[in-house]
Amino acid sequence: MSEPGRPLWSGRFSKPPAREAAALGRSLDFDVRLAPQDVRVSIAHVLGLRDAGLLAPEEAEALERALLAVGEEIADGRFAFDPADEDVHSAIERGVTRRLGDLGAKLHAGRSRNDLVVTDLRLWLLEAWSGLEDELVRLIRSLLAHAREHAETVMPGTTHGLAAQPVTLGHHLLAHAWALVRDLDRFRGWAGRTSVSALGAGALATSTLALEPAAAARRLGFEDRFANSIDAVSDRDFAQEFLADAAILGTHLSRLAADLLRWSDEARGWVDLDEAYATGSSMMPHKRNPDVAELVRAKAGRLAGHVVALSSTLHGLPLGYHRDLQEDKEPLFDCVDTLRAVLPALAGCVETARFRPAPMRRAAGDPALYATDLAEALVLAGLPFREAHRRVGGLVARLETEGRSLADLSRAEWEELGLPEGAALLDPDGAVRRRGVAGGPSPASVLGQIEALERLLATRGGGDRGP
Ligand code: ARG
Repeated sequence: MSEPGRPLWSGRFSKPPAREAAALGRSLDFDVRLAPQDVRVSIAHVLGLRDAGLLAPEEAEALERALLAVGEEIADGRFAFDPADEDVHSAIERGVTRRLGDLGAKLHAGRSRNDLVVTDLRLWLLEAWSGLEDELVRLIRSLLAHAREHAETVMPGTTHGLAAQPVTLGHHLLAHAWALVRDLDRFRGWAGRTSVSALGAGALATSTLALEPAAAARRLGFEDRFANSIDAVSDRDFAQEFLADAAILGTHLSRLAADLLRWSDEARGWVDLDEAYATGSSMMPHKRNPDVAELVRAKAGRLAGHVVALSSTLHGLPLGYHRDLQEDKEPLFDCVDTLRAVLPALAGCVETARFRPAPMRRAAGDPALYATDLAEALVLAGLPFREAHRRVGGLVARLETEGRSLADLSRAEWEELGLPEGAALLDPDGAVRRRGVAGGPSPASVLGQIEALERLLATRGGGDRGP
C-alpha cells in the first residue's frame, strides 16, 4: 500500500529519490489539469476489472465513489497532495487508497500510467478542441457576415503590398475565411484520428487479466480502441498533429490580424477597430493602439514553437514509453490556452470592426489598377498579350514622366492605343464585375463563395465523432 512521502513504486527501492530528481520529474503542477479525465478513465478501468471478475460489484461501486470524491476534492482545491506525488495519476490513486485502504490498492491492476496518461490526454484534448471549434466557427461566421455586407465594396488588391488590381472587400475577407475553413477541416480530421482509447495497452504489452479494451473505449465515448499496444503507449502523433494544425491556424490568424492592422493605419483608414479591442498609450494622450490584433499577429510564433519543441522531443525516440514523453503536455496546454485567448479576442475584434467603403473606393480609383484590364482589352481586340503588355507599360511610363495618369488620356490618345472606349475600363465596379468567373472578386462570386462556405460549416466532420 502507498506510504505517505514515498512514491507508489517504492517497493524495490531502499531510499527515496533525491529532492532535485523528484523536482525534475514532477509533472503534477501542470498535469493536474488532467484530473477530471483521469477520474473518468479510472472509473472505466474499474468497471473493466469488475466485468473481468476481479472486483466484486460493491467493490467497484466503492472505488467509483472514491474516485469521484477525489476528483471533486481536486476540483475544489481541498485535496491533500503528498509531496511524493509525481503526477496526477499517482495523486489520484493515493487519494483513493487513503479513503479505501486495501481496496484502493486493487485499482491499478492491469493498467499502467503509460496507457492511462495517453488516454487521459486524448480525452482532454478532444474536449478542449470542441470548445475551440465553436470559437473558430464564430470567427469564420463574422468574416462571412462582413463579406456579405461588402460583396460589392471595391478596394485595391495588392501584390508586394503595392496596388495591383481592383477586388471586392468581400472577396478579400473570404480569402481569410477559406484558409480558416481548411484549418477547421484539418482539426476535424485530427479529432477522428485522435478518438482512440489506449486503455488496456498497459505499460506496453497489455496484461494477462481479462480486460476488454473495446468496452473501455466505448464507455469513454471513444470511436475506437488501440490496434497495437506498443504504438498506443509510444506515439504522440495526435499531440504533434494538434500542435501542427494549431501552428497553421496561428499563421492564418496572424495574417488576418496583419491585414486588419494595415487597413486600419492612418494612411488608409479602411477599417475602424472598435475601442474595446484597443488600448491607450501611457504617455501620448491621443493614441488608440490596436493591441489585440498585434498580439494575435505575434502569437503565431509561440504556436509554431510548440510544434518544433514536441517534434524535437519525439525525434529519434525508440518505441516504448520513455519519460521524455512527459514533455508532451506543457506545449499542448499552452497551445490550447493560447488559442483560447486568441480566438475569441480576434472574433470579437472582427465582429465589431467597421469597414469604411469610401476611402477604399477612393483608393480603387487609382488608374494604374486598370492597366491589366487595358492589356486584356487589347488582347480581345486581337493583339498578342506580350505586345499589349509592352504597349500599356510604355504608355504608363510615358504618362508618369508627364505627370499624368491613364485617367488623363484624351479621346485621340485612347484611339491611338487601339481602345476608343478604353476610358470606360477605368471603373472599379465594372472591373470587378468583368471578373465574373467563380472564385474571382465579383459580387456574384462572393455570394457564391459564402454559400459554399456556409455548407462546409454546416457539415460537421471528425470533431463530432470524439468523446
Ligand atoms: N507523468 C507521466 C507522463 O506524463 C506519466 C507516465 C509515467 N510513466 C512512467 N513509466 N514513469 O508521461
